[in-house]
Amino acid sequence: MLTQAPKGTRDMLPQDAYLWHWIEQEERYAAEKAGYREIRTPVFEHTELFLRGVGDTTDIVQKEMYTFRDKGDRSITLKPEGTAGAVRAFIENHLFQDALPCKMFYLNAPIFRYENPQSGRLREHHQFGMECFGGKEPTVEAELISTLFGLLTRLGLKNLTVHINSIGCPSCRPVYHQKLKEYLGDRIHDMCETCQARFEKNPLRILDCKEEKCKAIVSGAPVILDCLCDECKTHFEGLQTLLRARNIPFAVDPHIVRGLDYYTKTVFEIIMQSGREGLALCGGGRYDNLVEQLGGPATPAAGFGIGAERILMELKNQGLTPPAPPATEVYVANLGADMKIPAFTFTQALRDKNIKADCDLSGRSLKAQFKYADKIGAWYVALLGGEEYERGVVKIRDMKTKEEEEIPMESAMERIGEIVLSRSPERRLSESPEEK
Ligand code: HAM
Repeated sequence: MLTQAPKGTRDMLPQDAYLWHWIEQEERYAAEKAGYREIRTPVFEHTELFLRGVGDTTDIVQKEMYTFRDKGDRSITLKPEGTAGAVRAFIENHLFQDALPCKMFYLNAPIFRYENPQSGRLREHHQFGMECFGGKEPTVEAELISTLFGLLTRLGLKNLTVHINSIGCPSCRPVYHQKLKEYLGDRIHDMCETCQARFEKNPLRILDCKEEKCKAIVSGAPVILDCLCDECKTHFEGLQTLLRARNIPFAVDPHIVRGLDYYTKTVFEIIMQSGREGLALCGGGRYDNLVEQLGGPATPAAGFGIGAERILMELKNQGLTPPAPPATEVYVANLGADMKIPAFTFTQALRDKNIKADCDLSGRSLKAQFKYADKIGAWYVALLGGEEYERGVVKIRDMKTKEEEEIPMESAMERIGEIVLSRSPERRLSESPEEK
């Protein structure tokens, strides 16, 4: 127990950190290019926010929240999704008084859901999300989808199709609910218990059921797109025209209803190619009433969320993850106790030149230092000591080819820089890592 992470959680290990950094960098780049700026909201919020925001008939609220009482006897919940917190911050900080639309993104925010851990479903996952407040046109959804599509394409993912639907608004959705309930009428008794429970409170979610017997019944159900009011219809057609103009492959899928209550008009998902059936790579949509519902001024809004773990899973399944960069480019080995200080200062000087350098921290013999350098995949070993040092030279060994080169001490930094660069031309030593 003590050395076992809680069920449904995963460590990000040092050897995988570069993949997370790579994805985060691309996410930030994609969002900022579209004028979105970062927001960070707390990991926990008042439970009430999610009851009112996410909806108390949803699976998330009914079964999946991590809720507890704090020492002040307040009901607190670990964020089960990112939108409600962003809306709360938008209202609390009066961001609606700034220029609208107000566009924000969150980067790999930890999200907690007490789910049945199975392939692709974690109890703690991390979401990249983009939220746009104050834009009522379908251009908002088109921008979100286009940015997301561009990001996933840049990461290398192929064969992506965006599934879109419109679930109408408070004026046309009740008409559809009525039609759907009439159709389901006697049939509901042949459906699963979850669908039966949803019949009264949330009939739309019945369309989403993955049980074969329910899917068969649902396949003949009336379609919401036939019940949209003129405004919702025009909005949905407008979105499709924009997606076509950008050549984004999409499919209209009337069975996409999403598992959160706040959506109006557009909903969308990208389904995983390689995951379990029905597992979404990302999901989002428009939520025009949520800001007002939570106490802010009426503000149209839309956004999406995508799980970092699912992006990684898809990249790995499609064999698209880049190789790991070396943790150490140059390992500085010392020969003898009196070379420890020169080896230390030489290592620091290499680091000052933005070369990934390391030296012995364990008092190892020269042989053991070479063995260690090999084990950690160092590209080169720079040897300080022995008769070479007395002659004023440093010996560099290429750990792959075993070729060696003697370099005069006074030009060592420059020459090692050249050698490292020749191995990895995209590296620029003069720049800080952030500028790379
Ligand atoms: P969601 O569809 O519940 O939407 O989650 C968004 C994405 O988070 C999913 O498509 C998936 O990539 C990832 N995800 C969700 N649950 C898990 C899990 N248990 N394990 C791993 N990954 C998971 C929302 O959360 C909305 N807040 C999205 C949104 C933002 N809509 C408008 N703005």
